[in-house]
Amino acid sequence: MADQTHCPQQQCSGKLWGGRFAAQTAASVESFTESISYDWRLYRHDIMGSKAHAKMLAKQGLISGDERDAIIAGLSEIEQDIQAGRFQFRVELEDIHMNIEKALTERIGAAGEKLHTARSRNDQVALDIRLYLRDEAAELDKLLADVQRAFVRQARANLDVIMPGYTHMQRAQPVLLAHHLLAYVEMFGRDRERLADCCKRLNLLPLGAAALAGTGLPIDREFVAQELGFPAVTANSMDTTADRDFALEFLFCLSVTQLHLSRMAEEFVLWSSKEFGFISIGDQYCTGSSIMPQKKNPDIPELIRGKSGRVAGALVSLLMTMKGLPMTYNRDMQEDKEQLFDALDTVKASLSITAELLAHSRFNGGRMQEATHGGFMTATDLADYLVKKNLPFRQAHRVVGEIVALCQERDIELTELGLAELRQFSERIDDDVFAVLSVEGSVNSRVSTGGTAGVRVAEALARAEQQLGIA
Ligand code: ARG
Repeated sequence: MADQTHCPQQQCSGKLWGGRFAAQTAASVESFTESISYDWRLYRHDIMGSKAHAKMLAKQGLISGDERDAIIAGLSEIEQDIQAGRFQFRVELEDIHMNIEKALTERIGAAGEKLHTARSRNDQVALDIRLYLRDEAAELDKLLADVQRAFVRQARANLDVIMPGYTHMQRAQPVLLAHHLLAYVEMFGRDRERLADCCKRLNLLPLGAAALAGTGLPIDREFVAQELGFPAVTANSMDTTADRDFALEFLFCLSVTQLHLSRMAEEFVLWSSKEFGFISIGDQYCTGSSIMPQKKNPDIPELIRGKSGRVAGALVSLLMTMKGLPMTYNRDMQEDKEQLFDALDTVKASLSITAELLAHSRFNGGRMQEATHGGFMTATDLADYLVKKNLPFRQAHRVVGEIVALCQERDIELTELGLAELRQFSERIDDDVFAVLSVEGSVNSRVSTGGTAGVRVAEALARAEQQLGIA
């Protein structure tokens, strides 16, 4: 009856895996190897997975119906205790999986010892992370949509504002502010698609791979998949326990989103400077200086920009962690979680504050309009005008370049040249040229698909509003 009583070694080490150990684990080892301090976050998903597993074990005759019910009830109780902050996590039990399993056995007795049948922590942890990320993806999608809506609302509210469009940070061509804002809506839209695509590979059941080779016990993986809402199971047990591609892809998605936020944040910082004056951020969303009484600083966008470092860092960190690992599970992989959690927290917080920041910012249309004067931003329009009058584009480019040089010399705008002067550069220029040289004319001429003309932007805005459910 040796299997009925606790062997002395196991009592000595107190570990679920303690059978073959003669000495207690060193305290330094426990604190070095533990993950419970952060993977406790997986508790709901760990319990969800264990319940589905127990149902399958009972269906397959590996445990009785009573044992299944006791396991499920015990797990529900544990879940409530964790939720209520009543659960004592123990470092000596390493991780969330063993903390829950041990507590279950302490509460329900022998049935608890059957839960880990045909399962390893290697497939269990893969399951937990996949379930966790699947939920997080849904939440991120909502947050991204909120940010898109905030941009769309500002685009609608500023539909006629014209501003300089920049390349190389130099004034290039006039554009609608709404067009600029809708560019971000596109970026965040792709972020949502990227996440959805990542979820296709994420959304497979790993459980049943066991330690690495599968199991000889008669399990039913498809049943567990169905219970947990996975459309299919993973194909190869070794790949299943070795794989963290899904986490890497997820971190890449997060990195790109934070990068998009960071680019937006950079514009907010720049635009809220006195030099630009394009935007003013509400007082509630700025901070002051401890020494300079006049200061109102854009700390939120600065921090959003700054935090892109740690999100990209998490991606690079996990890439490096994984790069030298032989098949299959290696403990190195425990390092995936802190990176994932930190990146998730950072991106979610950044997205949610961005939606607020946008709603509490005011774009200064007057300043933007002013900035469209100076910088010869309609020079391309003049070249296109000459093209329409049959001058080859390269020649038109040269002619307009010479006109710009003259204006620069005299410190005047293109519109300040008279027709006679313009005609000295090309006979093809007539008095219809002045419509082309105006900033409004320039914007509204850009009717190509995806261009900044008012008609195109109005269409794009209506499309975005419809997609995002804005009435
Ligand atoms: N805490 C571990 C991790 O996060 C769970 C898997 C442990 N597996 C093992 N064979 N030690 O990766």
